[in-house]
Amino acid sequence: MQGYRAALLRFLPDDTMERIDDALVVVDQGRIADAGAFDAVAARFPQVGWHDWRGRVLAPGFIDVHVHFPQLDVIGSPAEGLLPWLENYTFPHEARFADPAYASAMAELFLDELLRNGVTTAMVYCSSHAASAEAFFEAAQKRSLRMVAGKCLMDRNSPEPVRDDTRRGLAQSQFLIERWHGRDRLGYAITPRFAPSCSDEQMRGAAELADAFAGTWVQTHVAENRDEIAWVAQLFPDARSYLDVYDRLGLLRERSMFAHCIHLDAADRARLSASGASAAVCPTSNLFLGSGLFDFKAAAQAGFQWGLASDVGGGTSFSPFRTMLAAYEVARLGGVTLSPQALWYRHTLGAARAMGLDGLVGNLSAGYEADFIALDARVTPLLARRAGGAWSLDEWLFAMIVLGDDRAIVDSVVAGTPMPRLAPPSRTG
Ligand code: GUN
Ligand code: ZN
Repeated sequence: MQGYRAALLRFLPDDTMERIDDALVVVDQGRIADAGAFDAVAARFPQVGWHDWRGRVLAPGFIDVHVHFPQLDVIGSPAEGLLPWLENYTFPHEARFADPAYASAMAELFLDELLRNGVTTAMVYCSSHAASAEAFFEAAQKRSLRMVAGKCLMDRNSPEPVRDDTRRGLAQSQFLIERWHGRDRLGYAITPRFAPSCSDEQMRGAAELADAFAGTWVQTHVAENRDEIAWVAQLFPDARSYLDVYDRLGLLRERSMFAHCIHLDAADRARLSASGASAAVCPTSNLFLGSGLFDFKAAAQAGFQWGLASDVGGGTSFSPFRTMLAAYEVARLGGVTLSPQALWYRHTLGAARAMGLDGLVGNLSAGYEADFIALDARVTPLLARRAGGAWSLDEWLFAMIVLGDDRAIVDSVVAGTPMPRLAPPSRTG
């Protein structure tokens, strides 16, 4: 058993946050045994020693519900929209992940970046190569991380080096499920990349796999970009909408994560909600690629679950602070004001719920897995000044969201163990 003494941020049963100025978190075998006011917890665990982290603020590790591990080096590639971006930068780059050694090196760098930014759980796209998923799971397992990932299924409309074969792609997915799903803290997401790159047969096979293997996830993209949507309408003339393509093939279900969900209509949103599927909201990506603005008001009215996501490399930052700020700004453009607590919730506990991981990760309370971060507002002069002068929890959170970056994440603790402080990555390959 081991303790951490610092301030503490966590969610109450009504999903608002509380701050405890002097708290103790006790960790036992990777889980939180107790967390609360220092005096009370220390009295319950008098024999437990603690790291003196006073001056810092402990908070649940962030959860990124949609990110592409082979796109670390694609960040900041300008294009006139999604389809040329995929064709000119993303597919050529992902071709490199057929090489297991390259994929392994990049998986390490990717996880370094997540942890540097305080992200302890993510829902991850690998490339279409089984080797990239192997590399990712091995790297995540080594660090005891809770991660959900899968190899892309893409059997058409993509260049040969990243295209898979209908049956082989499904067989590889099944092999990866049997090998990795439920092993340690890892889970498998069946990953039909998006409807234009998948045949009906492949998507139907993906749904069959999800039926056959309990607890697996499904992840894909939907209604991101107007050209993409027009293309889907041509490819699937019988479908009522882009989302309906997936629905007819059996892919709308609990534990299905649909990225973007920008250009949906009311019937789509109602269906998303009724199916128990979730949306991954990716504001930095949507702004960078000019895809559109997620409709936060309509999402709230429909009531489907959603979490925040970086969507690196369409997204421009691994930092949850950047994503929360972009979500705030996009919501404002739609006439909605998201509170800092609501933003934080969508990147932690709300994201865990959208993934079906509630009770395991996303909060800092007894029984949860011990994935948390230590925040320090003193790392830059302006953040120190703005956060130091905050007169409420909301003000402090907002200062972090607007002025914070990876420097403010001074430690990431995974399954109770602080991860080594990370040197800046060097380019590999
Ligand atoms: N649609 C299909 N593939 C991708 C991808 O890699 N990124 C984004 N943003 N959208 C996609
Ligand atoms: Zn994506």
